[in-house]
Amino acid sequence: MDKNEPIQLFVPHFRVDETLAEIRECLEKGWTGLGFKTVAFENAWSAYSGLPHSHFVNSATVGLQLALRLLSENDGWNEGDEVITTALTFVSTNHVILHERLTPVFADVDEFLCLDPSSVEAQITPKTRAVIFVGLGGNTGRLQEVAELCQKRGLRLILDAAHMAGTRWSSGMHVGPEADVTVFSFQAVKNLPTADSGMICFRDAKLDEEVRKWTWLGINKDTYSRTHSQGSYKWMYDVEHVGFKSHGNSIMAAMGLVSLRYLDIDNAYRRQLATWYDQRLTEIAGVSRIPMSTECESSRHLYQIAVDKRDEVMLALNSQGVSPGVHYRENTAYRMYEGGAASVPVARYMSDRLISLPMHMKVTKQDVDRVAGILASVVDSSAKNVSLELAKLRGQYANATSAIQRVLTNEVAVARPRS
Ligand SMILES: Cc1ncc(COP(=O)(O)O)c(C=O)c1O
Repeated sequence: MDKNEPIQLFVPHFRVDETLAEIRECLEKGWTGLGFKTVAFENAWSAYSGLPHSHFVNSATVGLQLALRLLSENDGWNEGDEVITTALTFVSTNHVILHERLTPVFADVDEFLCLDPSSVEAQITPKTRAVIFVGLGGNTGRLQEVAELCQKRGLRLILDAAHMAGTRWSSGMHVGPEADVTVFSFQAVKNLPTADSGMICFRDAKLDEEVRKWTWLGINKDTYSRTHSQGSYKWMYDVEHVGFKSHGNSIMAAMGLVSLRYLDIDNAYRRQLATWYDQRLTEIAGVSRIPMSTECESSRHLYQIAVDKRDEVMLALNSQGVSPGVHYRENTAYRMYEGGAASVPVARYMSDRLISLPMHMKVTKQDVDRVAGILASVVDSSAKNVSLELAKLRGQYANATSAIQRVLTNEVAVARPRS
């Protein structure tokens, strides 16, 4: 193989013939919208995940917005009520809070890059209504603890499981039952690729029934069931309230049904890639690997490391044909969320050092060796090892996170003053 052949961060893998056959069925039947395939995919996802209610939507972003809208309507939240969230995420997670006229309150992350329960607890006020937990890269982090905290404090828990298709607890159970609502992304580079779509899974059957109206403009009977029902009142439906046009369609569902068949096999390969990366990178001083919680078998959407002088390392990888990514630029670094910066020093510290290495079905062992070889030659081995620093602090203090926060607050303030 050409040693400079590009290695991309993400490349979706579709089983083309099988997917085309599934799509062909929709085309031949003349039914590409909400209907037989979306129902089949919802049922298949529930059977796979064990989550009893699955509703197919056209993106995880809208799924997250609907999660807030329905919980808010059901529980009677007020404008400006607070939702505790993470800064280390794709902006979808936080934009939807603002769309729903609620207030995002940022809590900090732990060494798993997921919400730290002690930071969440510190951010709870009388106006807090919910927590959004992001399973970054497929990691469960301290999700169980956050779920227990929510239960104890009467808060709703929304799981942004955009990266978690196929993440299971070590018991074998799929993630999701611990949250009031779990939202998956099936966008093209996710573990279960379609072109763009997602799944919203409410715990409560009543909210599941309700969300189906919300994704179809408040209409209480979908076109497919009307077309296939008996009698002359097929055209008759009621509109109960406003809604969005955000249900999934049968072409996306056809793609999803095929991708779902391969999800466990693909995730097993992702975990194999992670093991290969682990084996090679453990030898390189100056490269810190972001740990996975031992409580889960991760979908391994991401393989993340942290290094000092991150931007230089990224450029070196780029110059040798490797395209890594960053998940994420923590959101309070964006102008619109900058007011939350003070409460997320760990997210800021890590965000300045994170790199996501190539992780997809076409990455080979040789690719992993090549990426590790470049890292070995460019990472400053005398630089501070990020996770070792964090680990030392965690061992030293009973309340590890607040200790880390105290130390990092100073460091961050010196390293990057805000304008
Ligand atoms: C953590 C997280 N949440 C939400 C989303 C939104 O997913 P979608 O593109 O399906 O709307 C993404 C997509 O990248 C994500 O990474």
